[in-house]
Amino acid sequence: MIKRVAVLTGGGDCPGINSVIRAIARKALKENYKVIGIKNGWKGLIENTTIPLDLDSVSGILPKGGTILGTSRTNPYKNEADLKKAKGNFKALKIDALIAIGGEDTLGVASKLYKDGFKVVGVPKTIDNDLSATDRTFGFDTAVNIATEAIDRIHTTAESHHRVMVVEVMGRHSGWIGLEAGIAGGADAILIPEFPIDIKEVCGLIKKRHGRGKNFSIVVVAEGAKFKEGSEILQEERLDAFGHVRLGGIGQILGDEIEKITGFETRVTVLGHIQRGGSPTAFDRVLGTRYGVKAMELVLEEKFGQMASLQGDKIVSVPLERAVGTLKTVPKEFYDIATTFFG
Ligand code: F6P
Repeated sequence: MIKRVAVLTGGGDCPGINSVIRAIARKALKENYKVIGIKNGWKGLIENTTIPLDLDSVSGILPKGGTILGTSRTNPYKNEADLKKAKGNFKALKIDALIAIGGEDTLGVASKLYKDGFKVVGVPKTIDNDLSATDRTFGFDTAVNIATEAIDRIHTTAESHHRVMVVEVMGRHSGWIGLEAGIAGGADAILIPEFPIDIKEVCGLIKKRHGRGKNFSIVVVAEGAKFKEGSEILQEERLDAFGHVRLGGIGQILGDEIEKITGFETRVTVLGHIQRGGSPTAFDRVLGTRYGVKAMELVLEEKFGQMASLQGDKIVSVPLERAVGTLKTVPKEFYDIATTFFG
């Protein structure tokens, strides 16, 4: 009997997803599996919208951003009727396994489905790099490179106009993008959720820097950063299906405060979804490819409830449950390296 594997992508799109889909399909087809793409994440499983994936459909997608399968932030565990449909369709598809490519939310659903008796395997995707149990999620490297290039470009205006330039980056409740892009871009202050903002200290650093003749500064702030005794700044309070608020806006508030306190002209740039768009870096294409092949190997070995994971330079597998339990945040030792260059 011909075996069948299905693939879906959930949550925010992310550079490198197509390299994972391609790797899963190529490995599966080589093993004589039929490959089915489920459209638009868990929404597609609820609605039973699928497409066959063959050699042609995954050809030429390696350098493309986004996901050829589409995505959604649908949570089938949000209501009983959707869950019943999703589970019914899972069985009706007669698949031997489902590979879910996603972050904390998508893999959280995958983990629950596994506990409910379904054969599921996961691949860690997110520009935020906040998934536990893996050293790197794919997509993060591209986001850091995009943000670094943006900081480099902003540097020239900062220098020419003698301004403070605030750059707001994504990352939700973790500061990985801010930290790494900030270090790579030579930021004069990096403010991330893990270490609350002391505005007096930040302004002091900028003034000190200007005092030694540097009449411009670059401040990188992560969207989830908050002032001491303050809370996260939201674009809207409405929660998505997984209970998340929409973050954003800290950059402008911070910029206004810096200008008010220091008297230096300050401008704000919010990088937003640019960080998730376009072609993946070579690193993410390779990591995505390794994850995809590993996920299919896990299916062949019938190691369900597992996620492909990067540990050092090896691709291994870890229980899905471990990946979604707690967020991976920036440790103090790493942040301390960045602070060496503040001011
Ligand atoms: O998780 C990836 C991410 O880009 C976060 O950094 C950001 O907070 C969120 O998704 C934005 O989501 P949306 O595209 O739904 O606005």
